[in-house]
Amino acid sequence: MDIAQSTSQPKKVIPKSSSGMDSELSKLGNNLITKFHVLMRITQIYDSKNVALNQFVTEFLDTINTLINKEGVLSLKIVKNDFFLNDQPLRYSVEGFTSFKYLLTQWKKRLIGEVTFKTLVAEEMLRYFIYAFINLEEGREENADLLKKQLESHHITSIEANPLEVVEGEEEAFTIQKEDQREVGKKVFFETIGTIKEVITSIKGNQYADVRKLKRLAQKAIHLVIEDESILLGMTMIKNYDEYTFNHSVNVSIYALAIGKRLGFSKKTLAELGITALLHDIGKSKIPREVLNKPAALDDEEWEMMKKHPLAGVEIVLNLKQLGEINPRMVVGIFDHHLTSDLSGYPKLYRKKEVSLFGRIIQIGDAYDAMTTPRIYKKIPFTPEQALALMLLEKTIHFDPLLLKIFIGLVGIYPLGSLVLLNTREIGIVYKPNSDARWLDRPTVLVVDRDEKGDPVKEMVDLTETDGGGSYKRSIVKTLDPYKYHIDIAKYFL
Ligand SMILES: [Fe+2]
Ligand SMILES: [Fe+2]
Repeated sequence: MDIAQSTSQPKKVIPKSSSGMDSELSKLGNNLITKFHVLMRITQIYDSKNVALNQFVTEFLDTINTLINKEGVLSLKIVKNDFFLNDQPLRYSVEGFTSFKYLLTQWKKRLIGEVTFKTLVAEEMLRYFIYAFINLEEGREENADLLKKQLESHHITSIEANPLEVVEGEEEAFTIQKEDQREVGKKVFFETIGTIKEVITSIKGNQYADVRKLKRLAQKAIHLVIEDESILLGMTMIKNYDEYTFNHSVNVSIYALAIGKRLGFSKKTLAELGITALLHDIGKSKIPREVLNKPAALDDEEWEMMKKHPLAGVEIVLNLKQLGEINPRMVVGIFDHHLTSDLSGYPKLYRKKEVSLFGRIIQIGDAYDAMTTPRIYKKIPFTPEQALALMLLEKTIHFDPLLLKIFIGLVGIYPLGSLVLLNTREIGIVYKPNSDARWLDRPTVLVVDRDEKGDPVKEMVDLTETDGGGSYKRSIVKTLDPYKYHIDIAKYFL
């Protein structure tokens, strides 16, 4: 499918991506949320005079004033379920997830929707503000006004609060039914990334790694995949450049579980597969960061080091006491996840060995995720469609053809997260592959557009929908490169 061949062009303006926010601002914004969260928690323990508070107040203050110095003003606002920093959506980092959730809940409970710092803030002001904020009665509509008055009575005019805007009838039919499960999915996804990070960091520092939480999370993921695999599969589109290793492990695990489910695995086998996939690259924790993140090709010595990660992984897993009973197929799956049927992979073997089923499943998710994620040495990744095409080319040597077929059934001919042009000249993102094999080319698509006023509009459309005359209302013409159109696909799956 040659993307460049077709001459039809999209007619409408493409929404500007949220990645428009520069990364420094995004980092500061995340920092602000974390510091706000910590301080809110601390203030519930200590009174305002307690010295234990000082450090946290100072840190929060520094972040606020750095932002004001940079931006002139600082407004933090809730728009639906997101925070906007100076009118730009703030994407949260993996570590920031808990803080975002906490602040969102606490603000919403108090019906506060926006806090603005208009000029540089002094420590005393901030101290007063945070206690006034925390002491607002939950569910009281006048809270923003009350807070304003309290601040004014202390001659604080540089901090302002506004009520939460409840947007009624702002329906996104596709999220309403699935809202709860999607929220659970997000939580499981981000918590698993956080937990795998903890485990890897402990192993790196030769410390005790607690994997019980990882096992619990894998159980939750299995439950979700059994109910509706599309939720977690959608999460794999959230490619996190900075957190590659952790994100990658979780994504591979989601792909593996979805394949395992299609293969009819029992819950027990799925649990083993999920953990194996989560830990498949655990051996990389023994490889120096500079080698893992090297922007250029690895030299011979570094490559030799890299090739040891499957075996190192086996050793680590065998020593993880809390994993409980370790089924041999888990260990073998980690050992052979880079082995190929022609022995061109690694570790180097002298006798032919068939790659295990777990290994073959992991290889597919591993390759697909690696190819579709931006990396330090390949900033623009393959599109999902390009990645699948490449994998199909190598199917007999590198991938199990049958498993690859199942995987394509999972992500679709137009894979999940692809940007597509429709015959109506609308642009959309493939949101959910069609589960019916007859309509693999007719997924559910999120049409992204702008209305006359230039505001973004989204509409979920099912491409199997027909008009009165029996013709399809919309069909995919071709895929587009999201990088050319500056569309941040991940944003639509968050
Ligand atoms: Fe690996
Ligand atoms: Fe991997």
